[in-house]
Amino acid sequence: MKNDYLSNGSPMNGLSRRDFVKYLVAGSALSASTLTRLNASIYQSITSLNKKYIRDESPDGVYWDSIQQHFLFQDGVIMMNNGTVGPMPKPVFNTLMKTFKVQVTNPFDVYNYIPRKREQVRRGLAEFIHASPEEVVMTRNTTEGINFMVNGLEMKGGDEVLLSTMEHPGGIHPWRLKEKRFGIKIVEVPIGLPPKSIDEFVGSFEKAITQRTRIISISHTVFISGLISPIKELCRMAHDKEVLVLADGAHAIGMLNLNMKSLGVDFYMTSPYKWMGAPCGIGVLYIKKEMQDRIWPTIASSGWDTHTDARKFETLGQRADALMVALGETVDFQNHIGRTRIEKRIKALAGYLKQELKAIPGVKLHTSEDPYISGGLTVFSCKDVDPARIVDYVRHKYNIVVRTIGSKKKGTYGVRVSTPIYVTYRHIDMLLEGIKTLVRHKA
Ligand SMILES: Cc1ncc(COP(=O)(O)O)c(C=O)c1O
Repeated sequence: MKNDYLSNGSPMNGLSRRDFVKYLVAGSALSASTLTRLNASIYQSITSLNKKYIRDESPDGVYWDSIQQHFLFQDGVIMMNNGTVGPMPKPVFNTLMKTFKVQVTNPFDVYNYIPRKREQVRRGLAEFIHASPEEVVMTRNTTEGINFMVNGLEMKGGDEVLLSTMEHPGGIHPWRLKEKRFGIKIVEVPIGLPPKSIDEFVGSFEKAITQRTRIISISHTVFISGLISPIKELCRMAHDKEVLVLADGAHAIGMLNLNMKSLGVDFYMTSPYKWMGAPCGIGVLYIKKEMQDRIWPTIASSGWDTHTDARKFETLGQRADALMVALGETVDFQNHIGRTRIEKRIKALAGYLKQELKAIPGVKLHTSEDPYISGGLTVFSCKDVDPARIVDYVRHKYNIVVRTIGSKKKGTYGVRVSTPIYVTYRHIDMLLEGIKTLVRHKA
């Protein structure tokens, strides 16, 4: 069912289904130089907006409405779920098409164009996450990054890894495999819904450390609760005890202004196609320089034993290079808006959502209100309303996409809402209106 908001011709979408299809067709038909010019004009428009809104890092209205127009959405869908994959901005799509074209029309160019481009993208990524290019690996996704590190770390039977009780399957199963194969021991540490404080969080892990603990492997962005784990504080505690830290930040890049140096983490992996707008199939893995000699590569081709840096984890053979080049464009797109501005906007939207949810009778927030340990994922439950009912209702009434998350048995079941940069306060108000209607009718 279509909703009133959309049939009223709201400008939120910017592309009708027909326009969208035309855009896709045009994207693949236009010449490389036209696609480059299109991107330049989008960046020019963002730069002039930045000049206008220089003093206000999170203005609603003109600034963000304009940014929203640079994303490819179909038929007015309001994407408030950045799980699995999120939408792509037009410049990234243009670059994706342009690069596929190079490969299609002149495959030989792959020899000279792609290696240069790969290093340029690596440098851009490194700068983007405050790391050095020698510490950045381009993987296919977060799951692969975790597997690379877990497989590569030598551990003996009886050695222990600490996980939280809210890890994603991609953060659990590599350890289960190692448990079965080498007899290591997995210890799960409970984390609050939400934790009351940073001390409570760090203290739970500290108490669980024993003589056999080698590594803590936990989510930075907890997919079940929206928690942003205090990785910096955890690393300080763990490193004092010579315990390593692996942080799974699947949702983090494009949501948070990531700084590997300041987090102090040993291994970090993230999926840029959730919040950042990259094409699905390219991921980022950070391996701290000092740790690289302690990890065996999982995939070996030429270079695994001669590269002296993170490149030794990237000898996969031929890959879909267009994805890598498009990732570079994603970095440019985000940099044009500004990493600080993006994080602030996402947190401002989430803060508003939490403040209004709290005021609804029977609503329980599963996510902290403290912006230091929360980001763009907000999870909540309602006393008398099934989360699945909320998800269905807002999709049918407003075309808003949110999702259920967690488990009834573990008491974590709820609705998860993302507040990325192309969402506005108007959209949040629509979502709140839907929830209030259901709560009123105890639906
Ligand atoms: C915390 C966490 N880890 C790992 C993953 C798996 O990500 P990917 O499928 O991109 O490897 C997800 C997916 O949402 C996640 O939320």
